[in-house]
Amino acid sequence: MYSQGLIGADGKTHEDAAFLAAFQARIDAEQKIEPNDPMPEGYRKTLVRQISQHAHSEIIGMQPEGNWISRAPTLRRKAALLAKVQDEGGHGLYLYSAAETLGVSREEMTEQLLSGAAKYSSIFNYPALTWADIGAIGWLVDGAAIMNQIVLCRCSYGPYARAMIRICKEESFHQRQGYEIMIALCNGSEEQKELAQDALNRFWWPSLMMFGPPEGESVHSNQSMIWKIKRFSNDDLRDKFINASVPQAEKLGLTIPDPDLKWNEAKQGYDHGEIDWDEFWRVVKGDGICNRERLKNRRRVDRDGAWVREAAMAHAQKRAARTASARIAAE
Ligand code: 3HC
Repeated sequence: MYSQGLIGADGKTHEDAAFLAAFQARIDAEQKIEPNDPMPEGYRKTLVRQISQHAHSEIIGMQPEGNWISRAPTLRRKAALLAKVQDEGGHGLYLYSAAETLGVSREEMTEQLLSGAAKYSSIFNYPALTWADIGAIGWLVDGAAIMNQIVLCRCSYGPYARAMIRICKEESFHQRQGYEIMIALCNGSEEQKELAQDALNRFWWPSLMMFGPPEGESVHSNQSMIWKIKRFSNDDLRDKFINASVPQAEKLGLTIPDPDLKWNEAKQGYDHGEIDWDEFWRVVKGDGICNRERLKNRRRVDRDGAWVREAAMAHAQKRAARTASARIAAE
């Protein structure tokens, strides 16, 4: 999974200066850009790249938790997890639809995912080994997703911004169900609390990586912020997430696995230890613990579901033909 090369990171476009200035004036005036509005090709490609990667993340993200639906400890937990995993599938569909408004087809996006050409979030290449991981994923992974996505509700592209409003409402339920699992485990037996700590140890650093590479390495941030697709840098959002999560961990009586984590009075936030960016890039480039398994599963599901798509298309064509002949008969 390497760069999809959809847009030069420098944001170079073919449009003339007057066109670009007029477009930027609309962005600066906080006007939403809609599918039929004129837009620079770079803006369109940046959105297709980001929205499709986001959609793929939602779809692949169903796998680690989906594995636990049949092993949830109670009926209530099973119902909540089932609903959450279904929500993620729904988010993928809203996002594919938002990307389609930019002229890319669902088939093309799926093909990019299945061939390994497209990226999806690094976090979903880590395994969910215990029930406590389901708590940690809801608390931290969905928590990080919300921190990033609340801002996307103000993205300059209308269909993406509107999809994010609903998605964020659902993500906030996901975050709470995860944190509630962590509360139950931390109030339980010693072994249960150890499971919770172990899940935090394994998911903390990968959750910080979800926000993307740091300032100097984030090739798209600058242009995306000028176009108000992004509103904050990856590092700023990561810091906000850390500041929100530390008190939550303290409330649970758990320890964040970072010996260098320290409150910094001057910046009114936490300083944190070094993130292992080599590990991040290894996972992004396809060499994480579960990359191969995730794609293999996705390809199998795509093959197994082919007959459903074909049947639905055949049914739609039959209905359209029937409606057309009824119209001709009535004329
Ligand atoms: N995993 C995989 N790839 C990542 C990544 C991550 N965590 N973070 C960055 N990258 C990739 C980028 O996609 C880009 O690759 P490309 O050039 O091939 O497209 C490259 O690393 C450089 O990163 P940049 O910072 O320059 O890229 P962006 O400006 O696009 O910023 C982002 C990255 C912050 C993830 C941004 O794309 C974004 O906000 N995306 C929308 C949100 C999203 O996709 N979240 C994924 C998680 S969704 C989820 O968690 C589901 C929920 O149910 C839990």
